[in-house]
Amino acid sequence: MRPVTSSYSKSDPAAAVRATTNAPHAPLARELGSLANVSGPNGIYIGWRPADAADERRHRLLAEVTVGLERTKAMLARLGPDLAQSGLLAAFETRAPATYLHACRVAEGAVALASRIGLPAMEVSGIGRAALFHDIGKLAIPLHILDRPGSLSDDEMAILRLHVTIGAELLAGIPVLAATAPIVRATHERHDGSGYPFGLAGSTIPVGARIIALIDAHDAMTARRPYGTPLSWSDATAELVRCAGTHFDPDVVQAWSTMFGGESMPAVAAVAAGA
Ligand SMILES: [Fe+2]
Repeated sequence: MRPVTSSYSKSDPAAAVRATTNAPHAPLARELGSLANVSGPNGIYIGWRPADAADERRHRLLAEVTVGLERTKAMLARLGPDLAQSGLLAAFETRAPATYLHACRVAEGAVALASRIGLPAMEVSGIGRAALFHDIGKLAIPLHILDRPGSLSDDEMAILRLHVTIGAELLAGIPVLAATAPIVRATHERHDGSGYPFGLAGSTIPVGARIIALIDAHDAMTARRPYGTPLSWSDATAELVRCAGTHFDPDVVQAWSTMFGGESMPAVAAVAAGA
C-alpha cells in the first residue's frame, strides 16, 4: 500500500465526501457514519491508496476488524473494570453463542487436565480463566468470516488469526484478567515452532497455552457442527497423539490420553442441553 494524503476544505463538504469515498477507508467511514472519524485535524485526510483490488479487499477487512475492536473497547470503557469481565462474556455469548459454549467446554477441560497434572490451584484457576476467554478476540472478527461454513481465503484466514492478538490486547487492559493475556496470545503456538503469532516453541510456550491448545483442538474435532461429522472422543484423542511433538506438547498429550483419553467430560454440554 502506498501512503497518500489529500486535503479538503471544510466549507466544501462534497470535496470531503469525494476524498473519503474514493479512499479505502470508505467502508469504515460508512460504518462510523461520520466523516469526522476519518478526517484528521484541519481537514487533512491520511490514508492508503490500494495497489489493486485484492489490496483494497484486505484493507476493507482490516477496517472492519478495527471497528469491531474499537466497539468492544468502547463497551469496556463504559462498563468500567468491575463489570468488564461479565460484559465481555455477555457480548461473546450473544454474538457467537456456539463459540461461547465451546469456550466453556474448553475451560472445563483445561481445569480438569491442569489439576490432574498437579499444577498449583492458583495456576489451575488462571488457566481456566484464560481458557474461558481464549476466543474473546473473535468479538472483533467480522461475522461473515466467523460464521462462514466453507473454507476461508488466505486474507480471511489472516484476519481470523488476529483473534489471539486482539484477545490478549483486550484482556491486558482489564486488571482482573490481565494475567490471562500472555496465555491467550500463545494458544495457537505449536510445539515445533510452526504456530502463530510469534512461532514460539516447546517450553517457551506458557504451560496454560499448551493445555488450552490441546483441549481446544479436541473440542473442535468432537463438537457437533452444522457441517461435517464430528469425530468420536477416542478418535479425536488419537489425532492428538498423532500430532504430539509437532502441534502439541508430547507430555501434555500423554497426560491427556492417560487420564481422559477414553472418558468424556459432558458437564457443560449436559447443562446446555437441560439434561
Ligand atoms: Fe477455541
